[in-house]
Amino acid sequence: DFPTSVTLYEVGPRDGLQNETALPTQTKVDFINLLSQSGLSHIETGSFVSAKRVPQMADSLNVMRALERDNTITYSALTPNIQGFEMALSAQANEVAIFASASEGFSQHNINCSISDSLKRFEPVMALALLHNIPVRGYLSCVIDCPYDGPTEANQVMHVTNTLIDMGCYQVSLGDTIGTGTPLKVANLLDTVINHIPRHQIAVHFHNTWGQALPNIYQALSMGIDTIDASVAGLGGCPYAPGASGNVATEDVVYLCHQLGIETGINLNMLAEAGWMICQALNISPRSNVSLALKAK
Ligand code: HMG
Ligand code: MG
Repeated sequence: DFPTSVTLYEVGPRDGLQNETALPTQTKVDFINLLSQSGLSHIETGSFVSAKRVPQMADSLNVMRALERDNTITYSALTPNIQGFEMALSAQANEVAIFASASEGFSQHNINCSISDSLKRFEPVMALALLHNIPVRGYLSCVIDCPYDGPTEANQVMHVTNTLIDMGCYQVSLGDTIGTGTPLKVANLLDTVINHIPRHQIAVHFHNTWGQALPNIYQALSMGIDTIDASVAGLGGCPYAPGASGNVATEDVVYLCHQLGIETGINLNMLAEAGWMICQALNISPRSNVSLALKAK
């Protein structure tokens, strides 16, 4: 059954901007401040990773320190290790995320270690987060296909998801990193996963490389999934997933949900404004049909 309301997890300032031309800190701050006015409850504002690997995120500490915070909004950041977690603490992140892969090839390319080593590295992060009362979200990449290893087994996804939940993640976001998923594949995957894990502990994170993200979200919603990751204007992609495009556009997800009678709490026009603002800074057009259609009205 469809949920009556969903939580949208805005990843534009992180997933979106990590794969675009690096922007000035103040532009990012202005962007996030605009997003904060659109009714979003969760905004991923940066990541504390190697600046050599992802230079676009190198100023995450300064971005987070300069935000005009709304205390009803969760501002989060990616933290692959203790070093990252400590930076997130000094940035006053309300929440952090650890990120693993369901496939070995992507794990090696993205975070430079095996799946099992990554889970070991996350243990001290989980312990420190618990000590500081910071909620931790888990990401799992390549839940459908891996750019290095090919198709991923649903059982493998279920297994690593279970481990992340057991370690203390309050939710795991399932990432179709290269956007090859289709509704049938997504249905098969979610069937396996929600057989073992309560659905409110599962989020979906679909990249739109093959244009299937929205039908995949419709599929996930129909199965009762109520947390959706999205990136305003469809920005972004992962630097370690060659050819992968941005996430599904948040504007498109909001429009779909509202038309289905599912509440999001988001003001679509204000959200679209934030998308236009950041696209202007990047000198690109929004990759959101809804945003373009709104503008043309
Ligand atoms: P490592 O490569 O194993 O090596 O790092 P290291 O631990 O020896 O560190 C290498 C260098 O990074 C050192 O600096 C460290 O100090 C520094 P150097 O001595 O060379 O000058 N370093 C750090 N700097 C800042 N913050 C840190 C940090 N840790 C080490 N926390 C590491 C492992 C994971 C850090 C590295 O491989 C890395 O940064 N990888 C990039 C991962 C990344 O950001 N990928 C994109 C995000 S994930 C994603 O997009 C997928 C997702 O959207 C879901 C989906 O779509 O599937 C979430
Ligand atoms: Mg992603």
